[in-house]
Amino acid sequence: MVYEANGNAQPLALGLRFLIYGRTGCIGGLLGKICEAQGIPFAYGSGRLEDRESLVDDIAAVQPSHVFNAAGATGPPHVDWGEFNKTETIKSNVIGALNIADVCREKGLPLIFYSTGCMFDYDSDQPIGSGIGFTENDSSNYSGFGSFYSKTKGMAEEWIKNYENVCILRVRMPLFSDLTHHRNFIKKITGYERVVNIPNSMTVLDELLPISIEMAKRNLTGIWNFTNPGVLTHNQVLEMYRDYVDPDFTWKNFSLEEEQAKVLDAAPRCNNELDSTKLKKEFPEILPIKESAIKYVFQPNKKKKVNLA
Ligand SMILES: NC(=O)c1ccc[n+]([C@@H]2O[C@H](COP(=O)([O-])OP(=O)(O)OC[C@H]3O[C@@H](n4cnc5c(N)ncnc54)[C@H](OP(=O)(O)O)[C@@H]3O)[C@@H](O)[C@H]2O)c1
Repeated sequence: MVYEANGNAQPLALGLRFLIYGRTGCIGGLLGKICEAQGIPFAYGSGRLEDRESLVDDIAAVQPSHVFNAAGATGPPHVDWGEFNKTETIKSNVIGALNIADVCREKGLPLIFYSTGCMFDYDSDQPIGSGIGFTENDSSNYSGFGSFYSKTKGMAEEWIKNYENVCILRVRMPLFSDLTHHRNFIKKITGYERVVNIPNSMTVLDELLPISIEMAKRNLTGIWNFTNPGVLTHNQVLEMYRDYVDPDFTWKNFSLEEEQAKVLDAAPRCNNELDSTKLKKEFPEILPIKESAIKYVFQPNKKKKVNLA
């Protein structure tokens, strides 16, 4: 079904009509809400990414101007699922991701693909704390030994970047105003008994998902580090949570070695800084990560005492 939008007639005038994959997912769900708020007609795809004919059918039924792929195997409950479900993970993240890129190219459609920056790990060229981030020209340095999830994402990007109709967005550690959502990085780390304390690039979804819609309108393609400028450590995120939301909140830190040895029972996690210069140049209004987190995530939740248990 296509959800025709009310209110703002401008998108219709522009001929916008979005087909979105990932209806039940975090990013897909948020995208639908933004489209409704902006008055953009959209429909969720009912096909499975690995089933090419089902994608062709969706496109024929919806006649979209743009396709958004916010679907992927990420769990549940988290990416460790991929370690034990490798062929299912390949089906969605490699075969499926390639399928939809290929079908869209065949139909002359732009595709916005929400992928991940979780395919890079600090190394000697991009050391921790250096301010030197991985750029859009870098290929994954983590796919060989990291989690199986990261491996599928890194491999898919290597192929999909050759499709001139695709805009690949590398999302990382999403922060967003729904603090109760299990995919919110804040919900995740406030629930850990102990946390590491490492600077990372992060994506404030409340600010950047509308930017991704603007990217579609501008028909931007290629790879984009889809993170706010700068980095935040785990402790900085938790300090903001304590200062804005729950003054009684306390936490304990792990060393990285302890974290990986004791807490994670399957796959390692990567830490990195992504260079957001390209995104910032296209959208100068994008806020640095701390300012964005305060404006879009913590200030709206101020003293709400959200129950994250
Ligand atoms: N949120 C994060 O932490 C995060 C961080 C970085 C990058 N990303 C990337 O952003 C994308 C979306 O993430 P998310 O957090 O929104 O994921 P999510 O909440 O786990 O949702 C995944 C969505 O993908 C759908 N899906 C999975 N395999 C599919 C297939 N083969 N065909 C059709 N639909 C399929 C799921 O539907 P079913 O339940 O019906 O399978 C679900 O709607 C993923 O590619 C992820 O790698 C997310």
